[in-house]
Amino acid sequence: MHQITLIPGDGIGPAIVDAAVQVIEATGVQIAWDRQLAGMAAVEKQANPLPEMTLESIRRNRLCLKGPLTTPVGGGYRSVNVTLRQTFNLYANVRPAISFEGTNTPFKNVNLVTVRENTEGLYAGIEHFIKVDEEKIAAESIGVITRQGSERILRYAFDYARKAQRKKITLVHKANILKCTTGLFLEIGRDIAKEYPEIEFDEKIVDACCMHLVMKPESFDVIVTTNLFGDILSDLAAGLIGGLGLTAGANIGTDAALFEAVHGSAPDIADLGIANPTATILAGAMMLEHIGELSAARKIERAVREVIREGEIVTPDLKKGSPYGTRHLAGAIADKVAKLD
Ligand code: NAI
Ligand code: MG
Repeated sequence: MHQITLIPGDGIGPAIVDAAVQVIEATGVQIAWDRQLAGMAAVEKQANPLPEMTLESIRRNRLCLKGPLTTPVGGGYRSVNVTLRQTFNLYANVRPAISFEGTNTPFKNVNLVTVRENTEGLYAGIEHFIKVDEEKIAAESIGVITRQGSERILRYAFDYARKAQRKKITLVHKANILKCTTGLFLEIGRDIAKEYPEIEFDEKIVDACCMHLVMKPESFDVIVTTNLFGDILSDLAAGLIGGLGLTAGANIGTDAALFEAVHGSAPDIADLGIANPTATILAGAMMLEHIGELSAARKIERAVREVIREGEIVTPDLKKGSPYGTRHLAGAIADKVAKLD
């Protein structure tokens, strides 16, 4: 029996997390879910976006499946997601973007994985205003890149590529301008690449990389990069395969692993029952793979792909005007999972 912390989250979170639980349970893997609050839901009930009980649960279980959390823009509390990453040293954010048959996108052969450094860079949160007579005249932010943090993520990416039998790693940087921070990351990447001679090593400047991703996405395999670039590039990759509703991510750390969709809480559609649960369901599959339940993970991936390829019971983001919503798609995938052997 696996003990796993479950955070339903905000907005569309509870609906898509329920969907993921339904599909995971259809595999027959035995899981004891430990439901906990975070985000706005926790602020409303406990006046704290990240209650100690939630942290305690993740500390105990070392595994968490979570829905998206709403983060106030500008003021308000600090991003709970960023705090979770730093608290549990979730240093590697792994986001596969693999084309689906049956989705509406001009890009058909995308099969890439972004490995994003998840704790450093401009996300270190070292920011302040410079004020004169209470007027904000400037704002400063410090991006931190450490040797230890860079080695850890780069090694993770190369080991991941080796294990997943992927052939090429593209290190993305901006070392022509940010010569110290992303320059150090690049320098360490070049050194570590020498230890993995069977994996082709490529390096790209982030802006050029965006252009190549759109013009020739099929030429990418594994991308490894610093925090902010990884955030942006992985959303770009999600767009290539047909949208945020389809892309999952794992946050792997020394103290825990946390699985979630790449997208946010989608407040614009929160009460409509039409959110696409696929990304969270696939996050569940990544979690099962992580805990060694490989056959259950493969079943979910296959079922998701078949239901989307059939294109019948899918959410409106996948087929305009579709009358089906979150529950229907989840039900169709769960039924398919139960039938696969
Ligand atoms: P968002 O990803 O929530 O939404 C962007 C657009 O994509 C919206 O039009 C939304 O309706 C659509 N969308 C997203 N997920 C969908 C799904 N599963 N099915 C169908 N359509 C979907 O991004 P936005 O609006 O920038 O952020 C909303 C909130 O989510 C913010 O408070 C943000 O901080 C938070 N957020 C949380 C994340 C997390 O907890 N991991 C990640 C990203 C954002
Ligand atoms: Mg993001």
